Amino acid sequence: MKTREGGNGAMQLDRQGCVILAAGEGKRMHSPRSKVLCEVAFKPLLGWVLDAAKQAGILDIAVVASCDDVKEAADGCEIYEQKERLGTGHAVMCAGDFIKNRGEDILVLCGDAPFIDAETITGAFKMHRGNNNDVTVISAVVANPKGYGRIVRKDGALAAIVEEADCDDDTRRISEINAGAYWFKAASLVSVLDGIKNDNAQGEYYLTDAVELLIKQGKSAGCYIADSADVALGANTPADILALNDIAREKIINKHLENGVLFLNRDGIIISPDIEIEPGATIMPGCMLSGATRIGGSSVIGPNTTLRDTVVGKDSRILSSLCVESTVGDGATVGPYTQLRSNSHIGDKTKIGDFVEIKNSTVGEGTAVAHLTYVGDSDIGRYCNFGCGVVFVNYDGEGKSRSTVKDFAFVGCNTNIIAPVTIGEGAYTAAGVTVTEDVPDGALAIGRARQENKTGWAKEKLEHYIERKSK
Ligand code: UD1
Ligand code: CA
Repeated sequence: MKTREGGNGAMQLDRQGCVILAAGEGKRMHSPRSKVLCEVAFKPLLGWVLDAAKQAGILDIAVVASCDDVKEAADGCEIYEQKERLGTGHAVMCAGDFIKNRGEDILVLCGDAPFIDAETITGAFKMHRGNNNDVTVISAVVANPKGYGRIVRKDGALAAIVEEADCDDDTRRISEINAGAYWFKAASLVSVLDGIKNDNAQGEYYLTDAVELLIKQGKSAGCYIADSADVALGANTPADILALNDIAREKIINKHLENGVLFLNRDGIIISPDIEIEPGATIMPGCMLSGATRIGGSSVIGPNTTLRDTVVGKDSRILSSLCVESTVGDGATVGPYTQLRSNSHIGDKTKIGDFVEIKNSTVGEGTAVAHLTYVGDSDIGRYCNFGCGVVFVNYDGEGKSRSTVKDFAFVGCNTNIIAPVTIGEGAYTAAGVTVTEDVPDGALAIGRARQENKTGWAKEKLEHYIERKSK
C-alpha cells in the first residue's frame, strides 16, 4: 500500500493529504492528558484515527495540536500548532501550508472520533471523485443526534450544517449528523477559509461554515452516509469514553470470534484493536490484552491475565498472571500468579509457577521455575530445575549485575545467587546455599552451617506451655 507510483490503483489515496484536528481542550474530560490521548481499548483516540487514515493508504498526515503530549503521540506526522483554540475552522487554517501543498484533495478528520475506518474514507473518496465534488461530508443517521452538527438538506441536497447550539427546534430533530470527517478539494477549501466568521452561539470559527460557503458559491457539495453510525461517535466526557470502550470491546471480540478464537464469555475481557490471536486460542474471562501482543494457536490465556506487548507461542497456558514486554515460547505454562516484567524471554516447554517474578532475563527450553522465586537480570539454560524460594540477588544497592545458570543445573530450595556468578552445566546447589562464587560444571555447591541438635532443650518449655494452655 505504501507507494506513490500508482499504488492503490485508480484511487490515488496515497497522493492525497489528511489533516487530523487534535487541539481541542476537552475540559469536560477532566483528564490530565489531552482529550485525544484518552484511551479506548488501550489505544489513544488519536491512534485509532491515525491508523484509519493509514489503512486507507494515505501517506501524508498532518496533526493540528496544541499540547506537547499530542505532538509526541503524533510521531511521524507533520505537526501544525494551534496556539489558541478558536474552533475547528481555525484549526484547519493552522494547517493552511499543508493543505496548499499536499495533493488535489484533503481529508479532514476529528482526532476524537475513533471509529472512522478505512472503508468509509475510501467510499467517501470514490463518491467525492465520482461526483467531482468540492466537498463531501461524511454523515451518519443516528438515534440520538444531541451534540452533533445537523445535516440540513434542501430538496434532498446538502444545504448547510448547523451546530447543536445554533439549532432551532425543527433542525434539532434532524437525525442525520455530521461525523466531523470531510473530503475537500484542497483549492476550494483554501478559497473559503478566510471567509469563515465566528458569529455563532459558541463564538468559534466552525469548519462546517466552509461547507456552507462553498455551497453559496455554487460549488458542488454532497454527503456520504456512512454504513455504520459508529463512525460519528466522538468523546467529550468520561461517560463517552466508557460508551466507546463498550462498543470497541464488542467489535473486537466479534472480529476474533469470526477468526476462530474461542471465548467462554465476554466478562472482563478487553482486547486492544491491534492484537493478533491465532484461531484455536482461548481467551478466558478477565483478560486484558494490549500493545503489540500476539497469541499462538491452541494457547489458553486467563482467566484474569494481563498481557502487554507480550508474544505467546502455541499450546501455552498463562493463568492469572501479568506479563509485560516479554515472550513466552510454545507449550509453556505460566502462573498462576506469575509476573513477567520487561524483557523476559521464556523458552518452549517451560514451567513458571506461582509467585515467581522474572525481569530482564532468559529462561531456556524445558526449565522449571515452579514456586516463589525471583529471577532478575539473568540467563538460565535449558532443562534446569529450580526449587522453591530461589532468589537471584541482582542488586547491591548501587548497580545491577547478571548471573548465569547453565543447562541441566539443579538449584536447590532457598538458594541465594549473589550476582555476578555462574552456576555450571549440570551443577547442583544444596538447599539454603548462598552462592557467592562460580560453581563449576557438574559440581555441588554447599555452604551452610552444620546442624547441631541440643537434646532435651525444649522439654521444660513444652511443660510450661501445656500448663499455661490448660488453665
Ligand atoms: C464537530 C463539528 C460537528 C460534528 C462533530 C462530530 C464543528 C463546528 N462541528 O463538533 O458538526 O457533528 O464535530 O464529532 O466542526 N479541535 C481543534 N481545535 C479547536 C477545536 C477543536 O483541534 O479549536 C479538534 C478537537 O480536538 C476535536 C475536533 O477538532 O478532535 C472536533 O472538535 P470538537 O470541539 O469536539 O467539535 P464538536 O463540538 O464535537
Ligand atoms: Ca467532538
